[in-house]
Amino acid sequence: MKVHDALNEQIKNEFYASYLYLAMVAYFDEKHLDGFAHWMRMQNAEEVAHAMKLFDHLTDIGGRVVLQAIDQPPSTFKSPLEVMRLALAHEQHVTEKIHELYGVAVEERDYATQVLLQWFVTEQVEEEKSVGDIVGRLELAGDSPEALLLIDQELASRIPE
Ligand code: FEO
Repeated sequence: MKVHDALNEQIKNEFYASYLYLAMVAYFDEKHLDGFAHWMRMQNAEEVAHAMKLFDHLTDIGGRVVLQAIDQPPSTFKSPLEVMRLALAHEQHVTEKIHELYGVAVEERDYATQVLLQWFVTEQVEEEKSVGDIVGRLELAGDSPEALLLIDQELASRIPE
């Protein structure tokens, strides 16, 4: 079934997001931006949870989980702004993938998968907004280290949903 293949593909996309965000954690740790690192660590954990939601669902609907190879994420970044812009671009890409997957579930009249994906559609709106807000604040901060440290402090207070 096409929807099973597409679910396996999306499991990989979510794990890639987790991997990408881990690479970003390493960058922020290196730069002593502990608040950004903490925020990204949580983001990484959320991506693993997203992957597992799809993983469990695929098994529940009688599909077969076939894990795919995960690409190597970038290991160097120019600035916190570049990192967050990349994270935003990645979330936008994931949103597109979720919408495509939804389309396949509609085509195949897989109603259970459509219901699950409604959660993901809403989640992606939130994901894009939260990352987009940080990009916007970093753009406002410009080259000010004080403003950057203020944002870092703010991100340190993120708590799990
Ligand atoms: Fe699983 Fe950040 O989207």
